[in-house]
Amino acid sequence: MMKYNYLGDTGLVVSALCFGTMTFGGEGMWEAVGKQPQKEADELIRKSLDSGINFFDTANVYSYGQSETILGNSLKNLKVNRNEAIIATKVRGMMGEDHNNKGLSRFHIFNSVDKSLERLQLDHIDILYVHGVDSYTSIKEIMRCLNDLIESGKVRYLGVCNWPAWMVMKAQGIARQEGWNEFKAMQYFYSLSGRDAEDSLIPLSRSEGLGFMPWSPLAGGFLTGKYTRYKKHSGENARRDDLDFPPINKEQGYEIVDVLKEIADSHEATIAEVALAWVRMKSGVTSTIIGAKNLKQLESNINSVDLILSDDDLDKLNKVSDTPTPYPSWMVGLQDSDRTKPNERDL
Ligand SMILES: NC(=O)c1ccc[n+]([C@@H]2O[C@H](COP(=O)([O-])OP(=O)(O)OC[C@H]3O[C@@H](n4cnc5c(N)ncnc54)[C@H](OP(=O)(O)O)[C@@H]3O)[C@@H](O)[C@H]2O)c1
Repeated sequence: MMKYNYLGDTGLVVSALCFGTMTFGGEGMWEAVGKQPQKEADELIRKSLDSGINFFDTANVYSYGQSETILGNSLKNLKVNRNEAIIATKVRGMMGEDHNNKGLSRFHIFNSVDKSLERLQLDHIDILYVHGVDSYTSIKEIMRCLNDLIESGKVRYLGVCNWPAWMVMKAQGIARQEGWNEFKAMQYFYSLSGRDAEDSLIPLSRSEGLGFMPWSPLAGGFLTGKYTRYKKHSGENARRDDLDFPPINKEQGYEIVDVLKEIADSHEATIAEVALAWVRMKSGVTSTIIGAKNLKQLESNINSVDLILSDDDLDKLNKVSDTPTPYPSWMVGLQDSDRTKPNERDL
């Protein structure tokens, strides 16, 4: 049965799984990710809705607009009540050769949002994420523009993907000082094969009351059992056969898959289900953005919400996927430990 969480401090309720539509379309370089046509997309969206998923993720740049168009058509074809679906899209990626058809300039953000609304056939976007860094547009300029979008009614909430923590915090500070709308959602790579977000980004999201949405929770299909140290090509025409993204430490990945398999067998679950349950059960995670090439994968990924891993399972997975704590976090851990002892003694 689907689980739900509040998105940070917004009061908005989102399903613990968000359906990612990066596989819709298949234009250009996106073909390696997926090329689902309208009919298959309708089936996947229908299944998601029937399973209680109320959160859908796309981007202007996925198949250069095709993903938004197909998602918009699905919402129409399936007669989805607009008030029951939370639609997130993004801006930043290159949408054409022109200098100003990419990035986070006010010029491009406004043009891009209008185009996204047209393709989605909607009058507002629930969450607009900036999809990445644009080092040629000042953070203040970006936040002013995003605030104006909220004021215009075209966008309800703001989100950020793939910015380093210091930039997110700087943006929040500027927005707060100016009385503008702040980011309310963060979307970052987070999986057993990519735990970097635990250092600064997840703590930031908790401290600032932002929702945290992991992308590529299966590391693009690696954490499913179709790749092992003895089978480096899936033989199933899978995405990671052609597209080595997101980059991960494969040697550690094979060890993680071994442990996932052992735990999966003990729960009569699949490797992917255990990998998704680990992400979902991590403290600070709001809604895991899943991807699926077909109904069978989607059904399995949805089943993962019913899987409760034991403390022992979690310990094993945390241990095998551990990476060295980066500086200054290890120094913070060393120094700050002396600040808790007196209180503990007093209690
Ligand atoms: N903000 C960002 O920068 C960013 C970046 C990437 C993604 N995203 C979002 O996150 C969503 C999910 O990302 P992702 O697609 O990379 O997620 P993922 O869960 O890491 O990978 C999904 C892929 O794994 C395989 N798979 C999924 N479920 C499976 C199962 N049960 N059994 C076996 N194989 C399975 C499928 O590919 P194969 O069958 O081909 O192996 C599927 O396309 C995207 O749709 C997008 O909305 C955001």
